[in-house]
Amino acid sequence: MIPIELRSSRLRIRRADSGDASASFRWFADASVTRYLPLAGKSVLPLESIESFLAQAASSDRPELAVTIELNSHGPIGCGGFRNFDDHAAEVSLVIGEPALWGRGLGREALHLLLRFGFADLGLTAIWLIVRSDNEPALKLFRALGFEVVEHRRGAVTVDGIPRDKYKMLLSKNDYEELAG
Ligand SMILES: CC(C)(COP(=O)(O)OP(=O)(O)OC[C@H]1O[C@@H](n2cnc3c(N)ncnc32)[C@H](O)[C@@H]1OP(=O)(O)O)[C@@H](O)C(=O)NCCC(=O)NCCS
Repeated sequence: MIPIELRSSRLRIRRADSGDASASFRWFADASVTRYLPLAGKSVLPLESIESFLAQAASSDRPELAVTIELNSHGPIGCGGFRNFDDHAAEVSLVIGEPALWGRGLGREALHLLLRFGFADLGLTAIWLIVRSDNEPALKLFRALGFEVVEHRRGAVTVDGIPRDKYKMLLSKNDYEELAG
């Protein structure tokens, strides 16, 4: 397994494990957190399925490499990771599970750490993600870090009877390095 210990001034990102189950359960039971996620409008994820996912993720990097995001002196505040590995590309995911902490630049800080790790340590040359086209905060964040829309999936999902579009966004290692300087 790849060791994961990523740090910035405010954050630590480490491999997720079973000890994160209760925090994850709380994040994914919060409708404001799941509003734009595939879970939107669906029933709450059972604690047991979170526990079994985390137990598996704690001891493997595939099919999903799962991380927990900690805020210094606060503990776990979110999660993310990489999945859908394909040659030198993978999908990244990011959730800051504490809405009270949104808008303080923590999402941006966490994504920077994940991107640097993905390109430098996982050897990826492209990182992509799927985002709802009405998820304004996420779109702003992804565009600011250099992600570009490469696919527009109209009516990709219907939530509470309303069809919603999704974007596939992609960032190449070259573009990231150019932007990050
Ligand atoms: C998307 C998410 C990770 C952003 O986290 P965050 O810690 O608030 O991000 P930041 O504080 O770094 O802000 C990123 C950008 O979003 C903007 N933003 C934050 N809250 C916003 C809001 N309510 N409306 C519009 N823009 C907003 C910020 O202004 C910032 O842009 P700027 O740098 O140009 O000012 C967080 O909202 C989240 O986890 N949401 C739930 C899960 C989710 O939707 N994940 C993405 C799935 S694809």
